[in-house]
Amino acid sequence: MPKITVPERGTFEVENGKKLVLALEDSGVHILHRCGGNGRCTTCRVEVLSGEFCDLTNVERDAFSEKGIEDHLRLSCQLRVNGDVTVRPIMMVENSGMDAGPKPAE
Ligand code: FES
Repeated sequence: MPKITVPERGTFEVENGKKLVLALEDSGVHILHRCGGNGRCTTCRVEVLSGEFCDLTNVERDAFSEKGIEDHLRLSCQLRVNGDVTVRPIMMVENSGMDAGPKPAE
């Protein structure tokens, strides 16, 4: 099973192919996902510190360009975990004071 490492939070084993946003949340990392995983809000964005994901998707490119966000970040609702990665969530319940949002579909 792949492992996700989140600096200062720990390393978690996750099911292969699981959506990154759900893998983080189910591991106790309270990342935001305000649009419910539809690739619009960008609150689920992460910085990828190591490991590989698919190439940037059009959904991510469009969302980042609309919000003026640097596209070296990735939207965790658009990614699946297929190997060991280290990611740093940008917006979490703890640092934003917001509710996480509706749970994204599997
Ligand atoms: S862009 Fe909204 S949850 Fe991913």
